[in-house]
Amino acid sequence: MEIIHVSAECYPVAKAGGLGDVVGALPKYQCKAGDIAKVVMPMYRTKFLYEHEWEVDFKGSSNLGNRYFDYTVIKEKTNQLGFDLYLVDINGLLDRQKIYGYDDDAERFTAFQIAVVNWLSNWEHRPDIVHCHDHHTALIPFMMQFCYDYQFLGSLPTVLTIHNGQYQGWMGWDKSIFIPRWDLWKRGMLDWEGNINPLASGVKCAGKITTVSMSYLEELRVNANGLEKLFEYERGKCVGILNGIDNEIWDPQTDPYLEHHFSVKDVTLGKQKNKEALCKRFGLDPQKPLFVFIGRLVGEKAADILPDAIRTAIHNTQGNASFLILGSGETAIEWEFQQMTGTHAGIFNAVIGYDEKLSHHIYAGADFLLMPSRVEPCGLNQMYSMRYGTVPIVRSTGGLKDTVVDMGDYQGFGIRFDQASITDVDYSVGRAVSVYRDKVHLEWMRKHMMQIDHSWERTVDQYRQVYLSLQ
Ligand code: ADP
Ligand code: GLC
Repeated sequence: MEIIHVSAECYPVAKAGGLGDVVGALPKYQCKAGDIAKVVMPMYRTKFLYEHEWEVDFKGSSNLGNRYFDYTVIKEKTNQLGFDLYLVDINGLLDRQKIYGYDDDAERFTAFQIAVVNWLSNWEHRPDIVHCHDHHTALIPFMMQFCYDYQFLGSLPTVLTIHNGQYQGWMGWDKSIFIPRWDLWKRGMLDWEGNINPLASGVKCAGKITTVSMSYLEELRVNANGLEKLFEYERGKCVGILNGIDNEIWDPQTDPYLEHHFSVKDVTLGKQKNKEALCKRFGLDPQKPLFVFIGRLVGEKAADILPDAIRTAIHNTQGNASFLILGSGETAIEWEFQQMTGTHAGIFNAVIGYDEKLSHHIYAGADFLLMPSRVEPCGLNQMYSMRYGTVPIVRSTGGLKDTVVDMGDYQGFGIRFDQASITDVDYSVGRAVSVYRDKVHLEWMRKHMMQIDHSWERTVDQYRQVYLSLQ
C-alpha cells in the first residue's frame, strides 16, 4: 500500500508537540512493515532543512483567492528518516521559522493544502490512501471531492486522524474565496455554526476518522469544543487507535542525549546517576523525590493549576520533594513559574522554553512525571516516562486513562486522580512520596512499566485495517 501522510509537523524536521512525534514515527514503522509511506509537509526554515540534501520533485502554481502563487515540492535525498519526505515551499507563506502562531495561519495552511492536492493531481499514478492529520490538513478531503479542478481525485480514499479536537482552524465565510472553485451546493460540508470549520469538514468528508486513543473517541461525543453532535452522528466511521512511541529514539540504553545509559536491570542505579546530574544542574537535592512537568503551559494541560498545586505540595511535604518544570506557553503561567524559582530556590526550578535534549534528560532523571491534563487525546509524555522508569501521575482522561494503571490496582505502576484540582494533585504527590520511601515497590513499578510494549509495531496493523476498509 502507498500512504501519503499530510501534516503540519514531523519530527525531527519541525515539531511543536506530539503530532510531530507521531508523524515522524508512524510512516517509518509502516515502511518497516512493508508498506510505502511518505510524508508531505510545509517547508519551514528549520535547521533540518539546511542540514540535509534535497532534490526538486515538482514545481507548480495555483491560486489562493486572487493571489497567484508558485510552489515547489522538494524531496529529501537520502531517505534518512526511513520514509520519503517531501517539503512544500511557498514563498511569502510557508518560508518562516515557526510552525504556527502567525496572523495569516489560515491562508498559510489553506495554500499548503491546495499545493498538496495540486501536486497529487499531477502524479502519474494514484496512491492508495491520503492520510491527513488535524485541522491544518483537514480541508483536503473536501477539496478532493468538491473542488472542480480536483474532483477526479474524489475516489482516492482519505483518513483524518484527530490528534487534538480542541483546535479546529475556524475561519469566517469571507475566507471561502481561498478555497479553489467549489460546488456551492456543498456549503454544508464546510460549515459549522456559521463558520468554515476545517476540522468539522474533515470529519464530514474523510472516509474514516481515527482518534489517538479509544477513550478520547468516547470523550469527543461529550466534549469536543462544539463538535460533540458531529462526532455522535459520524460515530460509525470513527476508530480509536492508541499512539505508539518510537522505541529506537526513546531508548534509555542508547539515547544519545543521555550521559548515563541504563536498562531494566540497572534502572535504580542508572536513574540515580541521571538524577544527580539533573539536580546538580538545577540546584536541587538528589535525595528527595523529584517531580517534573514537561509540556505546553496551557489550560488543556491544566498547567494553570500547577503553581498553586506545587506550592501546596511543597508546604504539605515540608519541603521534602523537589519540582522541575520544562515548558512554554501562556505568559501568566510562565511568569508565575519564573517567580517561584526565586521564592522556592533549592526545591523548585523551571526552564521556560523548548529543549528536546533536556526533555530526554528529565524523563531519565525524574522520579515522577505530573500530567494533570484537562484534555489529553493520547499523551506521549507518560509513555516516554514509563520507558525511562519514571512513574506517571496523571488525571484519568483520554489516552492517560488508556495507558496508566493506578498502583492501587492489579499490577499498577502509576498514580491516577480524577479532578484537575490542587487538592487532587497535592494528594497524589503525597501518595508518590510514600511510595518513594518504599524502595522495593518503587523498583518493581519502574521495572514493570519499562517493559510495557508501546511500540508502533503493535499499532501499524490497526491503521492498515482502517485503510483496507476503504479500498
Ligand atoms: P501535546 O502534543 O499535546 O503537546 P504530547 O504528550 O502528545 O502532548 O507530546 C508532547 C511532546 O512534546 C513530547 O515529545 C514532549 O517531550 C515534547 N515537549 C513538550 N514540551 C516540551 C518542551 N518545552 N521541551 C521539549 N520537549 C517538549
Ligand atoms: C496532540 C494531543 C496529544 C497527543 C498528540 C499526538 O497534540 O494533545 O494528547 O499525544 O497530539 O497524537
